[in-house]
Parts: sequence; structure tokens; C-alpha cells
Amino acid sequence: MLEKFSRRTFAKLAGLASFGIGSSAAAAQPARAEAPGPKLAPGGFPNGFVWGTATSAYQVEGAVNEDGRGPSIWDTFSHQPGHIADGTSADRANDHYHRYKEDVGLIRELGVKHYRFSIAWPRVFPDGTGTPNPKGLDFYDRLLDELLANGIEPYATLYHWDLPQALQDRFGGWQSSETSKAFADYCGYVAQRITDRVKFLFTLNEVGRFLNFGYGWGIDAPGLKLPPKELNQARHHVALAHGLAVQAIRAQGRAGTKVGPAENIAACLPAIDTPENVRAAEIATRELNAGFLNVIIEGKYTDHFLDYAGANAPTFTADELKIIGARNDFIGLNIYAPQFYVVASDKVPGFSVLPFPSSFPHMKSDWLRIGPETAYWVPRLAAKVWKLDTIYITENGTSSTDQVMPDGKIYDLDRIMFLRNYLTQLQRSIADGAPVRGYFLWSLMDNFEWIFGFEQRFGLYHVDFDTLARKPKLSVEFYRNVIARNSVDA
Ligand code: NOJ
Repeated sequence: MLEKFSRRTFAKLAGLASFGIGSSAAAAQPARAEAPGPKLAPGGFPNGFVWGTATSAYQVEGAVNEDGRGPSIWDTFSHQPGHIADGTSADRANDHYHRYKEDVGLIRELGVKHYRFSIAWPRVFPDGTGTPNPKGLDFYDRLLDELLANGIEPYATLYHWDLPQALQDRFGGWQSSETSKAFADYCGYVAQRITDRVKFLFTLNEVGRFLNFGYGWGIDAPGLKLPPKELNQARHHVALAHGLAVQAIRAQGRAGTKVGPAENIAACLPAIDTPENVRAAEIATRELNAGFLNVIIEGKYTDHFLDYAGANAPTFTADELKIIGARNDFIGLNIYAPQFYVVASDKVPGFSVLPFPSSFPHMKSDWLRIGPETAYWVPRLAAKVWKLDTIYITENGTSSTDQVMPDGKIYDLDRIMFLRNYLTQLQRSIADGAPVRGYFLWSLMDNFEWIFGFEQRFGLYHVDFDTLARKPKLSVEFYRNVIARNSVDA
């Protein structure tokens, strides 16, 4: 499978991941005066800014056969030959399931007080639905207690790609709205059990990735290549799952629980900062996110999305759109590469996307093009277009070669360069009024990077996957300093 997808193709597809099935014309957005930003010292972040770090269940936990966990689509997929670049799976991964106390110690040592992790649905409902596994939440109970005892606030993601295999087998996974309903039941149950200790819940992580790559292009689990109509229908079921989950969490979680998505927004930036191009980037932000973010925020598909899809548009009802558009308490955005540099165009929909030159620089992962201003424009444009008042950057970070030097240290200067530049732009965005309340650095430690296996390292802590020893990289010192000063400036 992998050889069929060159890294360049992967990068290209990553850029397309958040499309519905194409771009669409813009309905005119009311021009909103942007709120003035808070008064900040140069490089300084607002008081109370949430500094965090993140991981996900399948990428770190291991223990895939313990305590009644059922198989997920990623267990199946990673065990099939040819799917994972280094031939591995996450059967053991970081063994976080057993080493969580040590890992909470790492978070503490980092000076981080906020931690985003995910709950594995197949641990809680091994068959996806039905009777919960009596031991399903025990691990998360232990983890939560350990985090809280160390003064670290937990943020839980309910779906980070590990769909119970049983749902894939029974209903074709996200191809059926039965999966949307099962997701809401699972979320309601988890909310009931953990919202005494967890205030922030993320529904689905990166729909733009797992749906297109998993159901459209055969790259991620479950490895399907659905035709456009079915792909759009599956995306609609995911949007429905989000809306149903928001309702279930509100119904069964404690009052005051905050809920929203964690989405890899299609990152649209003006190629050159002129008022016309900024306007074009606003239109692009709405239209190139029509298939998920826009519909969950506005409760409707854009006209052009539907026109463009034509006979391939998803089938839906007005009641479903109402559920999908349930109010979010915040919007979580995962920000990595700049995906679309746009300029104004006279042609509908009002913007053109420029091609990337082959010389455009990237980090170790070659899909990860370097564009620090992504952290400036994305929150600013999202806030403007959708009138948002609370945004969290739910992921940002980079891979690096992370060589252990003869002195035993890891000088990940490229990661520090990347973070410094992205954070500088994020600070500028907040100073200009973007309502960003927090930032979760991906990732706490090296882990299973999906189809790239363990060969792409995104961690602040290095993990030796033979001994499972964890070791801080230089970027731990960098991030600790930023947090301590609440600033990117010295
Ligand atoms: C997005 C995903 O949410 C996460 O699982 C992945 O490891 C990082 N990006 C880096 O690719």
C-alpha cells in the first residue's frame, strides 16, 4: 500500500483532506469588526493561557489485549502487511497503559498543567455498543487520579481513530448512521463516568484526516476507497455523530462540561497579505471546510458544496442538520502545515489556490511544510468567519530526526525553531484579537505515528522503542521556559 503513495502524494492528499469533495462558492459573510486583542507584552500570552501537551490512546497505550479491550480498525489494519512503513503495529507502543505514572511524571517535569489524551472506545465497549466492559474505564480512572494528584488538568478526546472493529464489520463503520448513534451512546456513558473530574471533552479528532484517508483513499484504517457519494455520506454520518455526542454529553455529563471538536481545519492563508487576498482566504476557510467544520458550526452545508457535489451530495434531513449544528462550547483546531495559499479571484467562489513550488521547505515529515504564519491566520480567520469566541489549538508540533548524540543528549534544534516561529505567530494572532485560550503541543513523547510507524518522532521526550526508556529532548527545556515566562520572548 505504502509504495503506491509517495510522500509527495501524501502531502498533496493531506492538503486536500478537509475538502468536502471540492471547493464551493461563498455565501457573503457579514463583515464583523474584529474584537481588539488584549494588551500583551512583546511575545507575551494572556494571563491564564492554557499550556498543554497531547497524546492519543492507540499511539501510546499498548496493552491491546488487556482487561477486555476489543479490537479496533487500527489493530486490524496495522497487522495487515504493507500498511505501516516500518512494519510495526501499536500492540506495545509506549506501554503507557502500564507506565502512565512515569508519564504523568514527565508532564509534571515539563511544567505543563493541562494534558489532552484520548479514550479508546474499544476498551469501554469492546463490541462498539451494548454492555460496557466492567473494566473499560478502570485505566482512565487511574490515569485521571494520577493527573489530578499532580495538579494536571485532564482534557479527554473521545475518538482518536480507533473505531471498534465490530462496528466496521457490522455496519461498515462510518458508512452507517448506526455508528453515529453508537458513538453518542458511548460518549454519554463516558461523560456520566468522568465529568466529575474532566471538564473538557473533545468529540472527534481530525475528521478531515481519518475519513478521507481511511474511507476515501485507502491509506489509513479501514483502508477503503469509497466512491464520492458514499464518502460524502460517511462524512455526514461523522458530522451527525458529533452532534449526537454533543447532545449526549450535555444530557449525561455534569453541568458545566465543555464540549467541542478537535479538527485539522483546512488551513487557508493569503499568499500575499492584501485586503483582497485576506477576504479570499476567509471565503476559502469557509468553503474548503464545508464538509465538516462549517456544517457543524453553521448547521448547514454551503450552497456551493451541494451544487458542486450534485448527485454525489450526501442525503440528509433538516432534523439531522439541527442535531449536527448543536452549539459547541469551543472549537479545537489542530494546526500544522499551511495547506492552501490563496489569492482573490473574480471567478466564483472568489479565491484561487496557488500551486506549491517543489522547493517549498518542510520538516522531517515531508507533508509538514513550514509556514509559521499558519498559526497567525488560521485562528484569526476562523474566529472572523464563524464568529468564534473560544478556540483551543488542540495540536501543533513537528517530527525531527532526534538523534541521540555521543553525550547522550538530543539537540532537536529544528523542533525548537519550528515551535518558536509558530508560537510567535500565535502570539501575534492573539494580540490581534484571535480568541485562542490554549495550546496543546503534539506530542508529549515519541509514539506510533500511524502509517509511518515509529519512524516519525513527534515527542518532546525521546522514547527508545527497544527499552521504552524516556529521555527529555532539548525542546523540553524550550517549552518549559515558554510556560514559565508565559512568553516566547526572552
Ligand atoms: C494529527 C493526529 O491527530 C495525530 O494523531 C498525529 O500523530 C499528528 N497529527 C502528527 O501527524
